[in-house]
Amino acid sequence: MWGKGALITLEGIDGSGKSAIAGLLCKELSKRGYPVTCSYEPRFEEYKRLIRGLGEDRESIYVEAMLFAADRLLHYSRILRPALMKGHIVIVDRYYHSSLAYQGARGVPLEWIRSLNRFVPRPDMAIYLDVDPRVGLSRKEGEAWDKARFQKLGLLERVRGIYRRLAEGGELILVDADRPLSKVYGDVLSLILGFLGRRGGRD
Ligand code: TMP
Repeated sequence: MWGKGALITLEGIDGSGKSAIAGLLCKELSKRGYPVTCSYEPRFEEYKRLIRGLGEDRESIYVEAMLFAADRLLHYSRILRPALMKGHIVIVDRYYHSSLAYQGARGVPLEWIRSLNRFVPRPDMAIYLDVDPRVGLSRKEGEAWDKARFQKLGLLERVRGIYRRLAEGGELILVDADRPLSKVYGDVLSLILGFLGRRGGRD
């Protein structure tokens, strides 16, 4: 569909090492001669601001799912699709499955979230870095923009439960992230190189 481009996403709770691994992957794939675009979600500050301003009532949680889906649709049309059309390997730190896991854990039905996100394509490969939320929270330092809203143990345990079910269903590839970063990164890189090799992804 994308010529030689591929949409590869990294998923997991905060503190799983996702962002560090995304950065290392982008450097390594570029070094190996792949055209690479690296990105992340939520992407646009205006949507993050709106999400931060929402309440905790049932309606606000549905609006939260809509705002993440809107941010994603714009991200896709402005950044991801143009890169894929150029044949890039696109590495995204969070995408579609973050909405299923987080907004699902906050009580929004998964089918509704899927339907809201039907205008963006599913990733070609989605990797989930699995870590105990206690470990993830202990690794995360300082104040994040989303701390009050999303960085709570009970919620993160439900988020993990959904991610793990999606992995069991074959939508995500689970990698044990409760190990040193270099080992986790090594496994993720091998998975991606294997995938790119099988599809003949290099120019
Ligand atoms: P970050 O900017 O530190 O990566 O924070 C992203 C936060 O937003 C993280 O706690 C998970 C949350 N999130 C959702 O709840 N739904 C989504 O669809 C996305 C992309 C992120």
